[in-house]
Amino acid sequence: MIQKVRKAVIPVAGLGTRMLPATKAMPKELLPIFDRPIIEHVVKEAISGGITEIIFVTRSGKEAIENHFDANYELEHRLEKKGKEIILGTVKNIIPEEITVTSIRQNDALGLGHAILCAKHLLCGEPFAVLLPDVLVLDQVSRDINHSFASLLKAWDATGVGQIMVERVAAPAVEDYGIVDLDGCLATPFSSFKIKRLVEKPSPSEAPSDLAILGRYILPSIVLDFLERTKMGVGGEIQLTDGLDALSQTGDLNAFLTDASTFDCGNKQGFLGANLAVGMRDADTRQYLISLFKNDLGFNLPLSSLQ
Ligand code: G1P
Repeated sequence: MIQKVRKAVIPVAGLGTRMLPATKAMPKELLPIFDRPIIEHVVKEAISGGITEIIFVTRSGKEAIENHFDANYELEHRLEKKGKEIILGTVKNIIPEEITVTSIRQNDALGLGHAILCAKHLLCGEPFAVLLPDVLVLDQVSRDINHSFASLLKAWDATGVGQIMVERVAAPAVEDYGIVDLDGCLATPFSSFKIKRLVEKPSPSEAPSDLAILGRYILPSIVLDFLERTKMGVGGEIQLTDGLDALSQTGDLNAFLTDASTFDCGNKQGFLGANLAVGMRDADTRQYLISLFKNDLGFNLPLSSLQ
């Protein structure tokens, strides 16, 4: 019987150096994408696929992330007293009551593979999801919100085989990602393909394909055994990709191609792009953005003329 995936590990221990100085005193995961922190988008993505237990792997100084998902009685009380029901609704019960949020610390910055291992005792031998919160996955408007992640979970449910979401990237960009080798197989969107091997951040000349890991994984618990045997890799860190490469040798790991738009919010351009893309999905903001761009970004125009 294929075990349901109930738990999601979300590593949030990164320092956010690519977004400095914005992230000097503030966790990068709390930077807003349109009207809410990126981490809220990602947690909701996990929940909408059926995840009921969120596990943050965090570090000292990032307590504000946990606070965001906790009650803030004083704020709630004040908003209630002022009759600000709509705003109250956005801060109260951000996630449904039945969802549990747990945090565990990663005391050494030893990489993504090490971060996942920190959660081992909370995973209790169950299959689990991993969502990297730098990445915003924006499914096409014609589909359900979070269609890609829900489909990834369905692919696990149907097969019990680990699933890694991938997307095509331009050739020079392969060195920024984990890249999968499908042994020449031509991947089509929303289907799973057996992975032959994975390489973390290869040079363009050595990359086995242009299919990049984008930060959404469904993994069997045995991957933790492989990770425990994984040596330091690229950047002197224990790489999740290297543990997955060992798992792929058993023939039990698939790549799942999505056609969603993705944004790396851990860098300035991706962050801005994500804000524009999500903002364009709000009717009023869309009008505002269109007039802003029509008017050469509104320079020298009074703000009122842009409404
Ligand atoms: C991590 C993973 C990499 C993946 C990327 C997606 O790298 O190690 O395999 O392609 O996330 O964003 P990082 O961006 O943390 O260097």
